[in-house]
Amino acid sequence: MELQEKKILIVDDEEDIREILVDSLESLDYHTCTAADGDEAIDIIKEEHEGLAAIICDLKMPKVSGDQVVHFVAQEHPIIPIIILSGFAQLDMALDHIRMGAFDYMSKPFKFKELALTVKRALEFRSLKEKQARYQEELEIKVKEITAKLNNSVIQTVGSLIMAIEEKDKYTRGHSHRVAFYSSMVAQTMNLSNEEKKELEYAALLHDVGKIGISDQILNKPGKLTNIEYEIIKSHPSKGVKILEPLKFLDNILPIIEAHHERYDGKGYPHGLIQEQIPMLARIICVCDAYDAMTSERSYRKPLAKEIALEEITNGSGSQFDPKVVDAFITTYNNILSEIT
Ligand SMILES: [Fe+2]
Repeated sequence: MELQEKKILIVDDEEDIREILVDSLESLDYHTCTAADGDEAIDIIKEEHEGLAAIICDLKMPKVSGDQVVHFVAQEHPIIPIIILSGFAQLDMALDHIRMGAFDYMSKPFKFKELALTVKRALEFRSLKEKQARYQEELEIKVKEITAKLNNSVIQTVGSLIMAIEEKDKYTRGHSHRVAFYSSMVAQTMNLSNEEKKELEYAALLHDVGKIGISDQILNKPGKLTNIEYEIIKSHPSKGVKILEPLKFLDNILPIIEAHHERYDGKGYPHGLIQEQIPMLARIICVCDAYDAMTSERSYRKPLAKEIALEEITNGSGSQFDPKVVDAFITTYNNILSEIT
């Protein structure tokens, strides 16, 4: 319904005033309806708010007064402008109502010209507010579309990076996806928020991205690593951060990637962080990473049985791993992973 087709609700306990207002407004081609007190007005607003363009409301009425109407409209239908009608002695009160959300006030007796101008301004104000609300809605839709596009490109970028890691290290093929899968199951057990689950997924998928920067000979070396080679391998969490740093949308997961080889007892790398200093999501990846490493084939050994890997994880509780995460992993293993891995 167009604004011009909507009615102006006149609320006043004096019949004469209602009649004058109806006549004046209808002579200006507005549609009207009336209420003799605040109670009746609130009933009409509840039922017909879609068809109301504006409200002109007296302040002093028997039973429910004008301020309750102003309060109700400000709370429930703030788009409908209210013009307060007040006696000269009630000007202060009228100003208070404007602070409460009324659009304007007119003092009685009012002049026809003043009425025409105030109603016109109220309707212009309302139409501006409606335009603003529509603009806001369109803006929100656009933001959603852009976010969806951005998420898509995040997924594509992450996908290419994983392919690059797995291309280099043939023994870890599928490792990133499995660690992400175990981590998501543990996140479920630990009741993490949706935002944490999303960060954990990306961090788990990309935790070893730094291996792109390590030579194939070292990564795929069949025998034991020399001390120097091991030091080079240990640089992969920090290398991962360097690789991902330019991708601003991955900012939040950088500390998780950097800390995925830290140990709960402080003996890990690269910084020797201890307990709560290690980001919680990194502590989860650390356990899932170890479980997958043990149960997968490596250049230097055959995969371990699931039960033995689980025993190793349990043995590492409190030293290599956060005991809370180990507990959550064991629960997750017993509920799901023992069946499907
Ligand atoms: Fe790693």
